[in-house]
Amino acid sequence: MRSYKAKAVEPIRLPDRDARTEALDAAGHNVFNLDSEDVYVDLLTDSGTGTMSDEQWAALMRGDEAYAGSSSFSRLRSAVEDVMGFEHVVPTHQGRGAENVLYGTLVEEGDVVLNNTHFDTTRAHVANQGAEAVDCPVDGAWDRSVEGDFLGNFDVEKGRAVAEEVGAENVPVVVTTITNNSAAGQPVSLENIRATANLADELDAWFVIDACRFAENAHFVQARESGQRDRSLAAIAREQLSYADAVTMSGKKDGLVNIGGFAAMRDDDLFEHAKQRAILYEGFPTYGGLAGRDIEAMAVGLREAVEPPYVDERVEQVATLGELLSEAEIPIVTPTGGHAVYVDAGELLPHIPTEEFPGQRLVCELYREGAVRSVELGSFAFPGADRPDYVRLAVPRRTYWREHLEHVAETAAAVREKREEYVGLEIVEEPPMKELRHFSARLESV
Ligand code: F0G
Repeated sequence: MRSYKAKAVEPIRLPDRDARTEALDAAGHNVFNLDSEDVYVDLLTDSGTGTMSDEQWAALMRGDEAYAGSSSFSRLRSAVEDVMGFEHVVPTHQGRGAENVLYGTLVEEGDVVLNNTHFDTTRAHVANQGAEAVDCPVDGAWDRSVEGDFLGNFDVEKGRAVAEEVGAENVPVVVTTITNNSAAGQPVSLENIRATANLADELDAWFVIDACRFAENAHFVQARESGQRDRSLAAIAREQLSYADAVTMSGKKDGLVNIGGFAAMRDDDLFEHAKQRAILYEGFPTYGGLAGRDIEAMAVGLREAVEPPYVDERVEQVATLGELLSEAEIPIVTPTGGHAVYVDAGELLPHIPTEEFPGQRLVCELYREGAVRSVELGSFAFPGADRPDYVRLAVPRRTYWREHLEHVAETAAAVREKREEYVGLEIVEEPPMKELRHFSARLESV
């Protein structure tokens, strides 16, 4: 069932095979270099790529573009308070802006930050402060053969052991990321959030939630955690965040907008400090690098994100893509997470060694075969990390229909048919920062 219909449409087209091969060559086998016009189904990311509601478009007109004291900011503040339970809000241009504002305020050189799994930009902001980012995922989070209801959880024992080793005084912040994007979008249970909050308490550290996909996480808690089924999604969404001292948020995910983000917190002092840093990097704290109209759209989007049946349909659509791919005998991580399906390219293309980027080969062939854009999250994106060669197919919110997902599964099936023909790739041009190479490097077949 779909509880919405289209009011505006955007034409897309499937370029022919020769045009696709030409585009792939011109892009240096890196789909970040493709023109979006040459992509038919774009599953590169679920970030900022979704469709706004008519209410959000209507809200744009209300945008108050005042430099200071904008009424749009007041409406965002009310939405954050109602939906997430935080009194203080610092708007930012997107999630990483919120990370800069918060971690730039809380973290110092030599510190250690614990997280179930740091998202790339979170890790980079911790590193930018001269601190070390340590991941504490539960065992099996990276193992496709392990199934579980809450594989995104924070391993509290692991976190405690790291803190004992480095000294609790060097751990100013404990973070949990819901859902855990870097662990295949798997959810985190309420019980685990409580236990992680207790750990932060023990360490006398701030407890922060990376709340990008907080509504999707609440859906899984409602569906899977004992005693939660009869509670409203909005109540669960709020309870999850009630244990945190602060959140960082990318409005481009569960804020249902194309741009925007914020940090929110309870502590008055922290708010004052965060605002000072926001002025430096984002803008005056009632606009934070955003137009008033963008803030309006985010205020409406946040409320829509926890209104049934939006999120149930959203997560079901991702699960449907997973089912269609499984039927096509594509090895995926199950159960599927909230925003994306993760394909195990190492298993699909076992003859390509990890140094020759089987994931990136799969990304290229999904494009060549059906103009489907995905992203590699294995040996190409994370050099030196001990990660499986996964490819992520992230589903934009409220954007594609079942026909698009069927096209993706048919494309993957066609790639599978030819899998033995494919060879590995090597990097022929890369930027100086290895951590960012997957955004711009160029590759060729070995
Ligand atoms: N935290 C998580 C868990 C994220 O997934 C992202 C973005 C961010 C923080 C940063 O937010 O992009 O608004 O600055 N994830 C996108 C993705 C880019 O494709 O997964 P941002």
